Amino acid sequence: MKTTIILDMTKHYPVLLNELISIISPQCGGTFIDCTFGQGGYTKKILDFPNTKVIALDRDSESFKKAEEIKSNFEERFLFKNMKFSQLDNLKLKNENIKGVIFDLGYSYTQIKDDKKGLSFDSVGELNMKMGINDFSAKEAINMLDEKELEKIFKYFGEEKESKRIAHNIVEDRKTRNITTEELVRIIESSKRKKNYKMNSSTKIFQSLRIFVNKEISELIYGLINAAKIVKKDGIIAVVTFHSLEDKIVKYFFKSLSENKSISRYMPKGKEETNLFKLINKKPINPSVKEVNENPPSRSAKLRYVVKKEDFYNFETDIFEKFNYLVEIENYSKKL
Ligand SMILES: C[S@@+](CC[C@H](N)C(=O)[O-])C[C@H]1O[C@@H](n2cnc3c(N)ncnc32)[C@H](O)[C@@H]1O
Repeated sequence: MKTTIILDMTKHYPVLLNELISIISPQCGGTFIDCTFGQGGYTKKILDFPNTKVIALDRDSESFKKAEEIKSNFEERFLFKNMKFSQLDNLKLKNENIKGVIFDLGYSYTQIKDDKKGLSFDSVGELNMKMGINDFSAKEAINMLDEKELEKIFKYFGEEKESKRIAHNIVEDRKTRNITTEELVRIIESSKRKKNYKMNSSTKIFQSLRIFVNKEISELIYGLINAAKIVKKDGIIAVVTFHSLEDKIVKYFFKSLSENKSISRYMPKGKEETNLFKLINKKPINPSVKEVNENPPSRSAKLRYVVKKEDFYNFETDIFEKFNYLVEIENYSKKL
């Protein structure tokens, strides 16, 4: 008989946890960087293995509380920093043998349910969407960007087919009223001609605004580049993504640096040329049917990872050129 376990839906459940642990092998000990500490699900699991150490980061200061709890049990082996992972290179990692750098992108369930953050179309009140350490909010973006800029954000970050009409209606509406979360949802619903009964009409627009407000594209690109610099030979970079843009960036970074493009300019002469990474699986790892049944938000997760083949730290990558069309859209924020 099939039994379905219903989880407590007020908590965050770490996604693809067993798969991630089997890839990074904490049973062998070593130092790991958890770039997206959240509720500490990954960190706690790693610390359960003796001889491990975790340096955890999160841009959301709310993570401090969870970090304090863990610190009280693992004083010597755990360090938390409230910072963005694009700044990974600012960590002073003297002689740390970094065996793994892990990213679990997206938001924890507790963040999505936090009305003050306004990340979800179910939220009430002012538009916000700031995860932490931000320069501007969704309110400023919706009220100050021009119609073409909003359209591009919706089209490229949300893959929303009706971006043009939605952007136009927002610009018309904001002439006469303050656009709150509820008002934005109303504008989207009344603008959309094609209804998708499998997805809320506001899903894509909210995704696009979260990406824009939190600069998720450049965060990810800098995070990956810095992770590749700090991880040691034979160490692992593992990333869990939740939407196709993130996955495209991770896939390209890993694949391109596993091919012959990744030769270091600083390799000693005479040493045979090599790639930066070894790509073990070309295809991503997805959650099992059991995990998706138990924790439906895991359904869109994809896990990709690489092993660093050599101890070189200065490498060339064309990732910024490749995704420049997205970074340019993030740069609309310069006028906010
Ligand atoms: C999906 S949750 C991580 C959940 C965590 N793996 C767990 O098991 O509890 C993602 C976390 O990453 C954080 N985050 C997202 N982007 C970040 C960035 N650029 N720098 C630092 N933290 C970030 C979010 O604030 C959030 O807490």
